[in-house]
Amino acid sequence: MSNIKLRKATTDDAVLLARLARETFLSTYEAFNEPRNIQEYVARAFTPAQIGQELKDSDSAFFVAERDASLIGYIKIRPAASLENVPETGALELERIYVAKAHAGNGIGRMLLDAAVAETIRREHGYLWLGVWKDNPEAVAFYRKCGFQIVGQKVFMMGSEAQEDHIMLLTIAHVYDVDAIRQRLNKLN
Ligand SMILES: CC(C)(COP(=O)(O)OP(=O)(O)OC[C@H]1O[C@@H](n2cnc3c(N)ncnc32)[C@H](O)[C@@H]1OP(=O)(O)O)[C@@H](O)C(=O)NCCC(=O)NCCS
Repeated sequence: MSNIKLRKATTDDAVLLARLARETFLSTYEAFNEPRNIQEYVARAFTPAQIGQELKDSDSAFFVAERDASLIGYIKIRPAASLENVPETGALELERIYVAKAHAGNGIGRMLLDAAVAETIRREHGYLWLGVWKDNPEAVAFYRKCGFQIVGQKVFMMGSEAQEDHIMLLTIAHVYDVDAIRQRLNKLN
């Protein structure tokens, strides 16, 4: 898909990013969850104030995909407590990756992941891990295609409902040319 621009998000993006986050989360999960649970989750997690706070946190990083000045996808990585089978050091959590439904299947998820991987390498980390709902087979297939492997299980609380997540791990050096990415990053500095 042409005309896609990727960039790091800033606090100026809080309002539009909160809207995109809310819409993409609802379009992914609304049909499969208790309306009350999901509405409560969305009302808490995706307000401009909450997203603004997260954007201010320099330990985390958001990248956004834009087309014709509209936000159509985003990814967020952050440091997080290590889980079973995730290396204790050198790993960041891929907390969220969402592409607007109308733009899915056009390589944007892969572009966002590549940006997150470059940022992870810039921070001298070697792994990305994530939790993904077992009942989201499309996302699991996407992650597998991108080189993640299932390494464990965990529970995610969607309101009052306990949901089972796969824990998936990407060993970056198995999939990406780390030296080439480092050289590209050095040139940009
Ligand atoms: C999952 C998601 C981020 C993928 O983004 P995308 O832009 O649709 O994916 P891409 O077009 O970049 O696909 C990248 C690769 O994964 C493959 N892929 C994507 N979805 C797939 C699926 N459902 N099944 C099999 N392969 C898939 C593509 O074929 C492509 O492979 P290729 O590079 O070898 O051609 C996006 O579809 C999305 O936002 N889904 C809803 C939200 C969601 O579930 N997020 C994850 C929550 S944990």
